[in-house]
Formats: sequence, C-alpha cells, structure tokens
Amino acid sequence: MSGMGLSMDVEVLPKAVRDYQPEWGIVLGSGLGMLVHEVDAILSLPYEEITGMPVSTVPGHEGRFVFGRLAGCRVMMAQGRVHLYEGCTAEEVTATVRFMENLGVRKLLLTNAAGTLNPQFAPGSWMMLSDQLNLTGTSPLMGGPNFADMSAIYSPELRGCFAAAASAEGSTLHEGVYAGLIGPQYETPAEVRMLRILGADAVGMSTVLEAIQARALGMEVAGFSCLTNWAAGLGAKPLSHDEVLKTGKAAADQMLRILMRALGNA
Ligand code: HPA
Repeated sequence: MSGMGLSMDVEVLPKAVRDYQPEWGIVLGSGLGMLVHEVDAILSLPYEEITGMPVSTVPGHEGRFVFGRLAGCRVMMAQGRVHLYEGCTAEEVTATVRFMENLGVRKLLLTNAAGTLNPQFAPGSWMMLSDQLNLTGTSPLMGGPNFADMSAIYSPELRGCFAAAASAEGSTLHEGVYAGLIGPQYETPAEVRMLRILGADAVGMSTVLEAIQARALGMEVAGFSCLTNWAAGLGAKPLSHDEVLKTGKAAADQMLRILMRALGNA
C-alpha cells in the first residue's frame, strides 16, 4: 500500500488544468481565503468535481482550487482544507497535497491560523515555521514510504527567501516551531504549558500532516502561521473561532505583500 489510495484521476480534468504546470502550491488556512482574490485567476476547480477529494464542513473553509498568476508566477491555491477533527483520515487530510504534486507543483506554501505560545510573538503577527511537532498521533505515510527524512521539513532555502522578503518589506516575520494537535477543542492551560516545555511557539490543528506528505514527495515546503490569539491561559480573553477568523483577515494583507515579493525572487 502506498498511502496514495484516493483515486484522483488527473486525466479526466479539464485540459487547462492538466496543462497549467503551476510552480507553486499555496494552501490557505482559516480566514486567509481572500488571498485568492489577489491572483489573476484563470480557473477555479471545486473539490466536489474531483473524484476522491474530501470537502470541509467548517465555516470559513471553502473547497476549491484556484489557478492563476501571483507576482508573475503560476500558482495553484487550495482554498479550504479538511481536518482530522472532522473525522477525516490522515490520507484524506493530505489529498490536496498529492493532487498539487500530481499537477506539477514542486514548491508548497502551507498557511494556517494558530495560537501563540511565545510571549515575544503577539497576536496579529505572522510566524514562519522553522520546524514542527506532529502531535496528532498519525501520519499520512502509514503504509509507506517508511523512514522519510524530515530533518529539513521546512526548506532552509525558502525560509531564507521569505525572511529576506519580509525584511525588504519592513515587515515582522517571526520564526518558530508549530505544534499540530488533533483538536477540535482548543487546548487547556495545562496543555499549553506542556507545549511550551516541548519547545513549541505556536499551536494549531492543521499543516503538520500536509508538510510530512509534501516532504516525502520531495517537495520544498514553507509554512506560515497567522498568530490569531494567545493560546489558552496566556491571554485575558476566552478563545473563539470568530476572533480567529477576524484576526486572520486583518493580517492577510501583510502576508500577501511578503508573498508577492518572495515569489518574484524565489
Ligand atoms: N489553538 C489551536 N488552534 C488554533 C488556535 C489555538 O489557540 N488559534 C487558531 N487555531
């Protein structure tokens, strides 16, 4: 078993999709969906139209690929993802990544909304992922391939490129470790203290499995967390999904400017 069992038949897709050859794949997290409006879109492909592509049930997550140009580069955006907490398997959660790879994507940007655990990283700012803790208890690689090397799961070259772009924009871009949990509940304060001891700077419910899948396929991966709130026990307010979506929307513009500059140079 290869772990690639979802039958996504590229041959039945419109020719414009098959021939597009996107250089970059971008997965948009909670509240960041409006980044699709920034691409000169040539085509949108709803997940429902792709055999085997799971569709999300969470508000704020649509389900489609948008193909177009961003900063002159051919990109393919995934607007909406499915999560383990919806009852999906690790294989389903990573179907978008395999689909993108099938269509020729070699560089993948994963974005998400996350809680911040690092007192230096305020809500409303962005963190580029330097590494991750997969605390979901599962892997998209179960059934093979075994023993894929994850020592540079987030590409040092891409990280350098995005750090340079952020600094040229005069924009703060933190770097740190993302802990991916199964959810769907937010963490308890005790869990947050545990995560800090483990070395996490941010916590969320996505991304880690997609990064593992992409790296196992030899893709270059970059990851970005929109830090939407202090993790439980660190801030004064109770956590709410609405707050997460609102902060994500407000911070999206900053990410867009960094992206536009970096894509031109990567
Ligand atoms: N915890 C987990 N996932 C999240 C959070 C959080 O605090 N904020 C946004 N996604």
